[in-house]
Amino acid sequence: MTDTVDDVELPYDDDASKQEKVESLEERLEVLESQNEEMRDKLLDANAENNKYQQKLERLTHENKKLKQSPLFVATVQELTDEGVIIKQHGNNQEALTEVTEEMREDLEPDDRVAVNNSLSIVKTLEDETDVRARVMQVDRSPEVTYGDIGGIKEQIEEVRETVEMPLRNPDMFEDVGIDPPSGVLLHGPPGTGKTMLAKAVANQTDATFIKMAGSELVHKFIGEGAKLVRDLFELARQHQPAVIFVDEIDAIAAKRTESKTSGDAEVQRTMMQLLSEMDGFEDRGEIRIIAATNRFDMLDRAILRPGRFDRLIEVPEPDEAGREQIFRIHTRSMSVDDNVDFGRLAAMAEGASGADIKAICTEAGMFAIRDDRTEVRMSDFREAYEKIQTEDEDEDVSRTFA
Ligand SMILES: Nc1ncnc2c1ncn2[C@@H]1O[C@H](COP(=O)(O)OP(=O)(O)OP(=O)(O)O)[C@@H](O)[C@H]1O
Ligand SMILES: [Mg+2]
Repeated sequence: MTDTVDDVELPYDDDASKQEKVESLEERLEVLESQNEEMRDKLLDANAENNKYQQKLERLTHENKKLKQSPLFVATVQELTDEGVIIKQHGNNQEALTEVTEEMREDLEPDDRVAVNNSLSIVKTLEDETDVRARVMQVDRSPEVTYGDIGGIKEQIEEVRETVEMPLRNPDMFEDVGIDPPSGVLLHGPPGTGKTMLAKAVANQTDATFIKMAGSELVHKFIGEGAKLVRDLFELARQHQPAVIFVDEIDAIAAKRTESKTSGDAEVQRTMMQLLSEMDGFEDRGEIRIIAATNRFDMLDRAILRPGRFDRLIEVPEPDEAGREQIFRIHTRSMSVDDNVDFGRLAAMAEGASGADIKAICTEAGMFAIRDDRTEVRMSDFREAYEKIQTEDEDEDVSRTFA
């Protein structure tokens, strides 16, 4: 674009030549104009191209930034208070108070799942399916259970504390003596005897991260994901050591191998194999203890019982008479009970009852008092409650026999 109008000499000698010059100038102008048009088109194209690159750059910068960010943690909103939002982190179960913007606050409700950053600020709320995995592993610490709420299995409580709690509290002691701390315990025994309760009490007692997974949930709710969940479970524990992993109803994933070759079975098998291999990796497992529980000990695959997997098999039996008396006392603690209620006699009467049965008898006795418009529960209420629960049980047994 070096040609400009200035460069051209303008001759004024005669009319004919003037005319010629004007014509040539007009021609030239036309050329210049079309050139100008062309350049403008090119400029527009270049601009558009530039925009495209600009956008790409922005996208890449954003992605780069995201990659450099530290990971977010999953938490559940507990409560919206005036001071801020109370959240509970999954995995370690710690509660925290965090501030949020007005806008975000409007979107939040208790029980919402959110992603929080290192400083526990809420970054975003999560879609439900984003974190089924995190939810499965969440610990249920409420209502709180303490060792004092468990009756009749003192020795078992001691044994669990010795194998799970002590090594976590005093790892040096084992190092000094030169032995490996126990890796895990398996609680087994009839239904309703306090196995799950005992694990929950450990969760309340220890400062370690407590991660829970129910075997039945693994198998029925997260079909196809069992093995991966087990891997994630141990990974989560490794990241949050010291940690206790509680696998309740372990029979659901560690039952004897059967002949049948349904796909469901194969899935359970894979889940169990993953569990076994995680348990074997004890060397690099670090400060992680395992508690498992089952009421189907007979059904367990022997592989899971092999030495090195569970150090202790702890049987939680049905309570004896003294145990039953203790459990009656525990479950009537917050009830108003008539002075002449004799817990010793109740315990003798409820021969063969489990802890769960006794709890049901106490609740039912309370119901009898309410029906009778009384606030105090009498010996006769307990007796009637026991009879009612007995017959219910029998009915159930009958229907089971005929089923
Ligand atoms: N030893 C006990 N002392 C006091 N309460 C008990 C005891 N055992 C059971 N209970 C009562 O029964 C309820 C169920 O007990 P828990 O869930 O611990 O049984 P479990 O042994 O895990 O049974 P399952 O094998 O069916 O899972 C408890 O919430 C508690 O109220
Ligand atoms: Mg249980």
